[in-house]
Amino acid sequence: MEGIFITIEGPDGSGKSTQIELLKKYLEDKGYDSVVTREPGGTAISEAIRKIILNPEYKEMSHMTELLLYAAARAQLVNQIIRPALHEGKAVICDRFVESSAVYQGIGRGLGVDTVYEVNNYALGDVKPKLTILMDLDAEDGLKRKKKQTSLDRMEQEDIAFHMRVVEGYRKLAQLYPERIVTIDALMSVEDIHSRIVAEVEKRFF
Ligand code: TMP
Repeated sequence: MEGIFITIEGPDGSGKSTQIELLKKYLEDKGYDSVVTREPGGTAISEAIRKIILNPEYKEMSHMTELLLYAAARAQLVNQIIRPALHEGKAVICDRFVESSAVYQGIGRGLGVDTVYEVNNYALGDVKPKLTILMDLDAEDGLKRKKKQTSLDRMEQEDIAFHMRVVEGYRKLAQLYPERIVTIDALMSVEDIHSRIVAEVEKRFF
């Protein structure tokens, strides 16, 4: 595959969207056709699954159902959008990817990181990100930013202990895969974060 696949991870409220827009512009200036997408979502089917997963009324959803729904949304996005774009040599930036499942379902829900990657191998096939940016932010700071919103989805409604496990999970994962997962302090200025991301992209791809 000729393209560039970059994923951006981090707790809710860590400022991923702003950085994704800046990174897209940077890659386009470098001459890359860029596709920005998000998880769960990015295709009609995956967005429909997203609505089920995040619906706060479905309090009875089992953790395994949640894991499989995220994986199903991912399988569709990979097959319909990401793999074809990479084959066409495009740059793909994805707002969250399998590492979100590793920490939210694997660690937050306690299903285990190995189980999560095992299940997701079916969804991913040969598609793996070359670079994953982790926007690192304490759970309390992320939730403070989110609480400004009027309604919280099913995941955001989880208690602070869950969100703290997620943040710790991300940090552990970054230690396990230091060559691929780059941790950036999400409290730095927008410009400084963008410069760090650009430096990592240049190191790997240009
Ligand atoms: P978003 O608010 O960043 O669009 O993400 C939706 C929520 O879904 C967010 O709370 C993180 C969560 N999530 C998982 O729990 N597992 C996953 O695999 C993904 C992609 C997201």
